Amino acid sequence: MKRIYSNINIADRNSFGVKQQAATLAEFETADDLRDLFMTLKPTEWYVLGAGNNTLFTQDYHGVLFTPICGNRTIIESTDDHIIVRAEAAHDWDTLVGWSVQEGLWGIENLSAIPSSVGAAPVQNIGAYGAEAKDAITVVEYFDTQSMEVVRLSNKECHFAYRESIFKQELKGRAIILAVEFKLSRHAQPNLGYGDVISEVEARGGATLRNIREAICAIRSRKLPDPKVLGNAGSFFKNPIVDRTVAEALRVNHPDMPCYEVAGDQSRVKLAAGWLIDRAGLKGYRDGCVGVHERQALVLVNHGGATGGDVMRLAHFVCMRVKENFGIDISPEVNVL
Ligand code: EPU
Repeated sequence: MKRIYSNINIADRNSFGVKQQAATLAEFETADDLRDLFMTLKPTEWYVLGAGNNTLFTQDYHGVLFTPICGNRTIIESTDDHIIVRAEAAHDWDTLVGWSVQEGLWGIENLSAIPSSVGAAPVQNIGAYGAEAKDAITVVEYFDTQSMEVVRLSNKECHFAYRESIFKQELKGRAIILAVEFKLSRHAQPNLGYGDVISEVEARGGATLRNIREAICAIRSRKLPDPKVLGNAGSFFKNPIVDRTVAEALRVNHPDMPCYEVAGDQSRVKLAAGWLIDRAGLKGYRDGCVGVHERQALVLVNHGGATGGDVMRLAHFVCMRVKENFGIDISPEVNVL
């Protein structure tokens, strides 16, 4: 089934809550729907708008927004060791995590309470608390808008990296994700190495799936604003990856600056953009109806009535201040349209 809307207000379809119009929005279920829609609408410009948690509209959208509406979940393999579950693009991310925890399946529990749909998860390789979606994804199935065929990519073929994948690179503007398959383990494999996760889990009685999920939900809700209450798109910026020598030079004056190892790359380290913004004096900064969140400086918020342009002006200001203070360039993690 498919449904086409014309001149639609998309304020309630983006978590920043910015008021913009889209010329056309097409909801689809299947690859056949997409084939029909591409033949009928012949879009020259299009974008996939999932749950809208990582997109900032800075103007009205004149092309076609495609929104998946199928969110079924099926177990396609089950052994004593693991299961493989297939979830369609519109499946709510946290519902999948909640289900996995309830079923005693390990692998995505650290990614609890991330506002996302399953289809968006591989695009930016969502990650939190030492885990990334790529650790569990086995296959991503997408509709190729050039060949009009369904293609299946293995984990390796997705070229996952920190907040990166082939869907943000070579397949940008070409692929529409239909479903994702995840391998989840029946054996306990707690991943508690990040920040205050271990103490929160221990305070709840130890490393069970349920305790880990509860701990992560508690940490997130303490630090991150609920987009239903305060418009935002989670981390607005990526944590910058810089040469180790650059970080070492900064550490001379800022010995408490957090630095994280980059897997497979000895010469570079990842800095915490939130720390840089905070130390640039901008945590809680407010400019009219937009601001830097008071508990997590990596998050920009819409206090009500902001346009995408207002958010971008603030983003440029934040980048400038970080550059002035630390000489580091930070760039958006959010897709800016
Ligand atoms: N920090 C500050 N001030 C701040 C924010 C952070 O000093 O205002 C410091 C923290 O004390 C800590 C370090 O910076 O030492 C890192 O902070 P945190 O652990 O909160 O994580 P983050 O690097 O700010 C990343 C992800 C989040 C994810 C958390 C937890 C990115 C862009 N962001 O944030 O992801 O939840 O780690 O794993 O990688 C998202 O992508 O939307 C998101 C929320």
